[in-house]
Amino acid sequence: MKIVNPKIEEYSQAHSQAPNLVLQELERQTHVTRLMPQMLSGALQISLLQMLVRLQEPKLAIEIGTFTGYSAIAMAEALPDDGFLHTIEINEELESMILQYFRKANVSQKIELHIGDAQEKINDIKGNFDLAFIDADKENYPLYYKMLLPRMKKGGIIIADNVLWGGKVVEPIKASDRQTQAIDEFNKMVLADDTVENVVIPIRDGLNVIRIK
Ligand SMILES: C[S@@+](CC[C@H](N)C(=O)[O-])C[C@H]1O[C@@H](n2cnc3c(N)ncnc32)[C@H](O)[C@@H]1O
Repeated sequence: MKIVNPKIEEYSQAHSQAPNLVLQELERQTHVTRLMPQMLSGALQISLLQMLVRLQEPKLAIEIGTFTGYSAIAMAEALPDDGFLHTIEINEELESMILQYFRKANVSQKIELHIGDAQEKINDIKGNFDLAFIDADKENYPLYYKMLLPRMKKGGIIIADNVLWGGKVVEPIKASDRQTQAIDEFNKMVLADDTVENVVIPIRDGLNVIRIK
């Protein structure tokens, strides 16, 4: 199910600031060289992510799920001068491409890439976060939320991608569909949590933007 009318999405993208040339090249290279390039965030969503980072001005940010570095570079570009981003990716085969594009985008000094399972790596990273972007294995969204929440600063934001999961969350969920179950559980967990306020934005595959009170 398409969440947004494609013509409306196209118009919105055409009337929003586009990702820069390095990000455009990385998007093309990801499509040419990687399986499942659809895992990339869309250009419009990236523009929103950059806007949220600019408004939040995080000193310390974390991303779970780097893929080829598209969203990580976009966030790093939007960080304040003294901001820093940790990004975690389990697939070590992506490491050289990610680091190549960090250099090309001139953001290497603002990002540290952690190769490994986020469930372990989150605990290795020190400090409390002003912003977290969750965009990895859907089954573990509830777990990542529980791990990140005590590490977030008051006023910090957690942004979770794919929270509408191609529209599957509004259909009867099959007992065997662990991914949709976990995303629905995550969305309900956030709504029931009175330590945060949130809004689900139906952009691309759905973003849940959560602010710590
Ligand atoms: C949707 S893609 C991320 C897209 C990226 N944020 C972007 O917008 O360009 C999800 C990534 O999460 C990674 N991943 C899956 N499970 C993970 C885990 N347990 N720990 C860290 N990364 C994981 C996958 O290998 C994949 O590259």
